[in-house]
Amino acid sequence: MVTLDMAFVERRFPALDPRDFVYFDNAGGSLVLEGVAARVQDYLTTSSVQHGASYAKSRIASGRFFEARESVARLVNAKDPDDIIMGPSTSALLRTLSVMLSGRFAPGDEIIVSQVEHEANIGAWLLHEKSGVNIKVWPVDKGTLELRTQTLAGLLTDRTKLVCVNHVSNILGTINPIREFADVVHAHGAKICVDGVAYAPHRLIDVQAFDADYYVFSFYKAYGPHHAALIARRDDLRDLPGINHFFVSEDEIPYKFQPGNANYELSYGCIGISDYLIELAKHHTSAEDHEREYLAHAFGLIAAHEQILSARLLEYLKSVPGVRIIGDERADAGVRVPTISFVVEDQDSRAIVEHIDRFGIGIRYGDFYARRLIEALGLEKQNGVVRVSMAHYNTEEEVDRLIGHFETVLPRGVS
Ligand SMILES: Cc1ncc(COP(=O)(O)O)c(C=O)c1O
Repeated sequence: MVTLDMAFVERRFPALDPRDFVYFDNAGGSLVLEGVAARVQDYLTTSSVQHGASYAKSRIASGRFFEARESVARLVNAKDPDDIIMGPSTSALLRTLSVMLSGRFAPGDEIIVSQVEHEANIGAWLLHEKSGVNIKVWPVDKGTLELRTQTLAGLLTDRTKLVCVNHVSNILGTINPIREFADVVHAHGAKICVDGVAYAPHRLIDVQAFDADYYVFSFYKAYGPHHAALIARRDDLRDLPGINHFFVSEDEIPYKFQPGNANYELSYGCIGISDYLIELAKHHTSAEDHEREYLAHAFGLIAAHEQILSARLLEYLKSVPGVRIIGDERADAGVRVPTISFVVEDQDSRAIVEHIDRFGIGIRYGDFYARRLIEALGLEKQNGVVRVSMAHYNTEEEVDRLIGHFETVLPRGVS
């Protein structure tokens, strides 16, 4: 198996030069690619003029924004660049989607939200309670901490209009079987809204294979800028009332859902993510391929490297008495991403993290805005979980350094 050329990866992330700080808060926000920053700068310094005019510079600027949507469409395998709605964040886009869908909910209808969501994919839907919509919670299996398809099937009724679930929880790290969920949801005539934020940095998105009606993620978690995309289907979007000015027609998709100017420079910067992934794949294979295959190859390399990092940390944590991993204990890249949370019996999560802070290592404690999960697990009193969230540019040596410092604060096993 080809292993990741870490020197190649390192050169693409300016924040890793020098590597004097171990960054394990990647699920909070990843490091940014040089190529992304360069594109943002290039846009701002060479084509930052108003779009939609007939003069040449305006046409170039509009073209660059379209190029950005094309690039994102290819990255997530959307059918059409018009399926991509750009926005400032996943939270903001989910609020927008909630407003867009308002007319589809009647009193007595139901929206199901999973218990493991970041609040972004719950709060947006609670808005409909005041119109008589029932919000039902899809609970996590207390033993395995999995979201079970069977549980979902038991909650769905002919009044269910929408199911909201993440692809990966930002605490558990477990990859949910979105296609399986989507099939059950669609069989009941409902739609599925997927929060892909914690999935996007680690695995290749394929909205068509997932059959997701609405898929949202943020680029700043996936090596890009503070910017986000909502992917939906054009034929579905055409039916929805816009939220833009009255004279923006129903056919102007995605413009009717993007009031004001979208952030053009950040959108253009996002092309740098695919550029990098393709370059990464080409560096590791001599096979001539199509763009999609290169993207898949890059994420294959990323997943394999991440599995090595996860295995090392999980193996250590499993050996520590009193540690409870909050998520799947297996490192398998098919099962999880390298976002690893745990608690220690009778220890405050904050105290552990503040101890580690002293050594130039960035990990984190808390509920990570998945407050309902933390409360359901009864972990709020110990300040939530300790979360170590890794990315493919992290190394085994960095994991070992962290483990070395954990050994000074976590209970010791019998040796
Ligand atoms: C799983 C998940 N969903 C949604 C969000 C919110 O993303 P944004 O900051 O773009 O609104 C986060 C941010 O931490 C997250 O981890």
